[in-house]
Amino acid sequence: MKGLILSGGKGTRLRPITHTSAKQLVPVANKPVLFYGIEAMAAAGIGQIGIIIAPETGAEIRAAVGDGSQFGVTVTYVEQDRPGGLAHASLTAERYLDGDPFVMYLGDNLLQGGITGLVDSFRANRPDALILLTPVDDPQNYGVAELDGDRVMRLVEKPPAPATNLALVGVYMFTAEIHAAARAIEPSARGELEITDAIQYLVDDGKRVEPHIVRGWWKDTGRLDDMLEANRLVLDRIESQIDGELIDSQCDGRVILERGAVLERTTVRGPAIIGAGARICDAYIGPYTAIGEGCEITAAEIEHSILLECSKVQNLEGRMESSLLGRNVTIARGVRQPRAYRFMVGDNSEIGIL
Ligand code: G1P
Repeated sequence: MKGLILSGGKGTRLRPITHTSAKQLVPVANKPVLFYGIEAMAAAGIGQIGIIIAPETGAEIRAAVGDGSQFGVTVTYVEQDRPGGLAHASLTAERYLDGDPFVMYLGDNLLQGGITGLVDSFRANRPDALILLTPVDDPQNYGVAELDGDRVMRLVEKPPAPATNLALVGVYMFTAEIHAAARAIEPSARGELEITDAIQYLVDDGKRVEPHIVRGWWKDTGRLDDMLEANRLVLDRIESQIDGELIDSQCDGRVILERGAVLERTTVRGPAIIGAGARICDAYIGPYTAIGEGCEITAAEIEHSILLECSKVQNLEGRMESSLLGRNVTIARGVRQPRAYRFMVGDNSEIGIL
């Protein structure tokens, strides 16, 4: 069995971060989302993984993942020339997959329980497809399933009036049957070959599509709130590890302080992670915060936030919370008069001022 991870896509809902970086590389608890999927596959005994990349962000994905040896797997890159949809991506990888059954995993999805049990069940029962479903509050934003007992009856992509609250999770198991289905369907209203429609084609064709309801959490990290929640859920399970230095500082609860990170006159209240080489002085870092490598924080309070590498936050009067800062961002109170806000902000940014 092979793995296929989809790591193309534009990440429009996470702009401006995704203007300069692939959405699959935005970190959750200081680790790119994409790495969680690769690790889940490796843990399930899948040693050959194809990664679908887009022309714009492919180089960055290649640089981060390499040949897969850091995960104990062999990675092959397959370039998708246009964002043609998930079924189009599976067709793009048809030659790589070479008739083998495969797990398809959307590179911005996070699944708490991993996939080992599901892969085992797929191998044992040999359905034509295995889909994962989970109840959500906003099914209109996902593929939605209608079941009759254990049978999949209907799958609809982002229905305006969903018949159920069962969303399709972005992890699927397929046999090579899916390729014929992907070839048979027409593009959707958004101009994409939808995997949801391809699976519906399998159902209509009398193929065996097995549904599994996901217990434990699942997150599609496409939006800021989901990203922050994924960060919270992953940090909730960390164990303390202090490899950095504390000077007149304290860490309460579960905190990871990576090598070379320095805290001075600072309190970190976990769960939180502080990346290698970060310097934090006269500050408070609250729960559910992930501070990236090389960040500098001085005289500020930060909670429930994600800071990417080398960002700086200095001399804030109020507490910063529920925020996502990209790389090399600076937020600082200036000393110049007159007191005024001064910004240099990229497209599609959002700044909330209290
Ligand atoms: C895709 C699928 C959708 C699925 C979702 C899960 O949506 O088309 O059926 O529920 O992933 O993350 P997209 O993220 O492309 O809007």
